[in-house]
Amino acid sequence: MEKNDILILAIESSCDETAAAVVRNGREVLSNIISSQIELHKLYGGVVPEIASRKHIEKINQVIEEALDAAGKTLSDMDAIAVTYGPGLVGALLVGVAEAKAISYAAGLPLVGVHHIEGHISANYIENPDLEPPFICLVVSGGHTHLVRVDDYGTYEILGRTRDDAAGEAFDKVARAIGLGYPGGPKIDKLSREGNPQAIRFPKAKIEDAPYDFSFSGLKSAVLNYLNGCRMKGEPVIEADVAASFQKAVTDVLVEHAMLAVKESGLNKLAIAGGVASNGTLRAAMEEACRENGVRFYRPSPIFCTDNAAMIGVAGYYEYQKGVRHGLDLNAVPNLKLGER
Ligand code: KG4
Ligand code: ZN
Repeated sequence: MEKNDILILAIESSCDETAAAVVRNGREVLSNIISSQIELHKLYGGVVPEIASRKHIEKINQVIEEALDAAGKTLSDMDAIAVTYGPGLVGALLVGVAEAKAISYAAGLPLVGVHHIEGHISANYIENPDLEPPFICLVVSGGHTHLVRVDDYGTYEILGRTRDDAAGEAFDKVARAIGLGYPGGPKIDKLSREGNPQAIRFPKAKIEDAPYDFSFSGLKSAVLNYLNGCRMKGEPVIEADVAASFQKAVTDVLVEHAMLAVKESGLNKLAIAGGVASNGTLRAAMEEACRENGVRFYRPSPIFCTDNAAMIGVAGYYEYQKGVRHGLDLNAVPNLKLGER
């Protein structure tokens, strides 16, 4: 290990994954441990906040120990501790924040609070050593759909956002309506491979005077109406076709808006981030659009798209380098805005 290396221990607990990671110099992931609660929440068809918090408490010490062990490091090797402090479920966030504060105090490590979405965006730095701001990033997760101009590390301009449901939320709701269960995104992704994306024409919402904004609730209603219509007429529902056609409608809009932002910004680089960015059809469609338009395309491996702590370690590193330090009064902020401290 070089003497000037900066090692960050990162913690993420904003939703239903308890995660810890060790990241070297902002780009190199030494360990990335994720304990998922999906099996538990499946029983209820979605994340139950109280259960999530309790499970985080049970798992967090073990996950952190595993992350340090897998990296071959101890707390005394760390330079700082980074933790997601918002946005997310307040009880879930609090577990990670309290843990990070306790470690910061006990081990005498600087504490750096990280914005969850900044983490998702920063996941792109892990496998792309050449990627540096400025670039455009489409963030598509369970709670957010943001088209962001990344001006510098930690400096963002939100060009567009969803007016109603987030993209991941639409996937989860439509999956539930088709009867696929939770979490919907990966299930629709899989089922749609057997379906025809041209089978049903679902609407693609455009918002007047806001070409970068999104709306997915109309699409969700259209799918529900289609399913109800079939049931009332006694017609069979071909689930794979519904999944593929819905996924195409979402993907087309995401690609169109992202390409428009890339063109109008004059920036020739597009990244995607967040759980929905692991979607096979979206990745392929973005890649093709970027190739056709001569745009450099970046996307994290699926494991760095869905919630993880490595991305928090990366974002935490750049915040740390800028001199950001939080005190032991750091609190969870469930509705934290991007670019806020
Ligand atoms: O980023 P993430 O792990 O957590 C949040 O910050 O919300 O995103 C979770 C969302 C869920 O809505 C999930 O259904 C969706 O990402 N998702 C997917 C896929 N994998 C996860 N959506 C579409 N296709 C996928 N393969
Ligand atoms: Zn997330």
